[in-house]
Amino acid sequence: MNVSSWLTIAKRKINALDAELILLNTIGEKDRSFLTLHEDKKLAEEELKKANEFLERRASGEPLAYILGYKEFYGRDFLVEKGARSLIPRTETESIIEMAKTLKPAPRKILDIGTGSGCIAITLKLENPEVEVLASDFSQGVLELAKENAKNLGTDVKFIQSDLLDSIDGNFDLIVANLPYVDEDWDWLDKKTLKYEPKEALYAEDGGLFLIKKLIHQAKGRTKYLVLESDTSQQEEIIEYAKEFGFSLARKDDFITVFKTF
Ligand SMILES: C[S@@+](CC[C@H](N)C(=O)[O-])C[C@H]1O[C@@H](n2cnc3c(N)ncnc32)[C@H](O)[C@@H]1O
Repeated sequence: MNVSSWLTIAKRKINALDAELILLNTIGEKDRSFLTLHEDKKLAEEELKKANEFLERRASGEPLAYILGYKEFYGRDFLVEKGARSLIPRTETESIIEMAKTLKPAPRKILDIGTGSGCIAITLKLENPEVEVLASDFSQGVLELAKENAKNLGTDVKFIQSDLLDSIDGNFDLIVANLPYVDEDWDWLDKKTLKYEPKEALYAEDGGLFLIKKLIHQAKGRTKYLVLESDTSQQEEIIEYAKEFGFSLARKDDFITVFKTF
């Protein structure tokens, strides 16, 4: 079977972009124009077998990131599975990077809590190599994955295993956290795709706010800025809660809330 016929069949089962990305991955190419330029290329038996296996997994609902093993975040590829599975980095989380870049004075010492793949911590360091970045997670497996990403992308982020701030000393200019904030009772969520991701990366008690509130409590007096990701529906409650601990709203978008303490 050649490239063109495989794509025609695959596009009946999954979306066109995913079909192309699966085929490119299978044949070890990156550039989508390769497929147009080599429509008649005959697929080797091994390539066909792998492409078909990936196609079936995608057609049954598995996220493309886990099939290919990586997800792009802020223009760079992050492994999302190696030993452990991390949350798949989301586009909305990129706005944490944008927001961090606008803070004045520019933060020099940053802590990323619940780092998962390391996408936030590593990107902040790569965007500004001058900053000191510490990244934490309570899952050792996920920390190993994040370390691998840091190595592959050539950064020297430090990593530490910690339950929120329990094992972390010192103060920071900026603490960022995309903690689990999904309430298991939200029936409007598409649980079909979420079921592939680690539960401990997604769900939290107390309407999804248990970990966020605990962190706000712990972060009092430990940082100049606190940047939190949550669902839009949770932001008002978070802002009110954070006020009690000396955090005032600096800015926000649909998913990201920036607090300052000065
Ligand atoms: C929503 S994921 C975010 C991953 C990554 N920062 C991102 O934005 O893609 C939440 C992460 O928090 C970690 N986590 C959950 N509970 C935690 C806790 N009590 N202390 C530290 N990390 C925790 C999970 O292991 C998971 O990696």
